[in-house]
Amino acid sequence: MDTAASPAVTGLIEVRVIPAEATWPLRLAVLRPGRPPESAQFPGDDAPTTRHFGAFEDGRLAGIASLYAAEMPDRPGLAALQLRGMATAPEVRGHGLGRALVQACMAFARESGARLLWCNARTGAVQFYRKLGFAIVGEEFQIADVGPHFRMLCMVGETVHH
Ligand SMILES: CC(C)(COP(=O)(O)OP(=O)(O)OC[C@H]1O[C@@H](n2cnc3c(N)ncnc32)[C@H](O)[C@@H]1OP(=O)(O)O)[C@@H](O)C(=O)NCCC(=O)NCCS
Repeated sequence: MDTAASPAVTGLIEVRVIPAEATWPLRLAVLRPGRPPESAQFPGDDAPTTRHFGAFEDGRLAGIASLYAAEMPDRPGLAALQLRGMATAPEVRGHGLGRALVQACMAFARESGARLLWCNARTGAVQFYRKLGFAIVGEEFQIADVGPHFRMLCMVGETVHH
């Protein structure tokens, strides 16, 4: 292989906390394509309890995930964080950015004293979340303009090894 053609590409992945507005371009491109720019902003983006994570590959922001303090409807009374806005750029899929983001979210959840992490997973992403330790709760449901989803849950502190 001609490595001289891509000398700067090492595949180095780093996850950092980023401001809400840094998530909006990837959210729009991956999760709300063709929709108005405002659709990339979610309620609670600026709440003090919200955290946004960016995954950088060779210094370029190529993946995002956000955590919001929100109880899981199926598990009321348990301190919980909702994972939303999980997306990686199409050209880096399979490089491990999604996994690194979920792991950072789990670490943050553990440190913040949350008992569980949950999300409304697009049906096409269910296997991704399963691999990372989430389990389906309940039946498939529709979210208007987005499509079919399953609610998924991961208890914090239960480590999954691969
Ligand atoms: C789902 C998504 C975030 C996964 O990101 P990614 O960067 O490809 O994830 P990773 O490379 O870290 O993959 C981790 C593991 O999950 C697997 N995986 C990733 N996406 C998968 C999918 N859709 N179905 C099944 N397995 C998947 C990978 O093969 C990898 O497995 P391995 O460790 O055994 O090799 C990405 O495909 C995406 O942005 N999709 C479009 C938006 C979306 O659906 N977001 C989720 C909304 S709920």
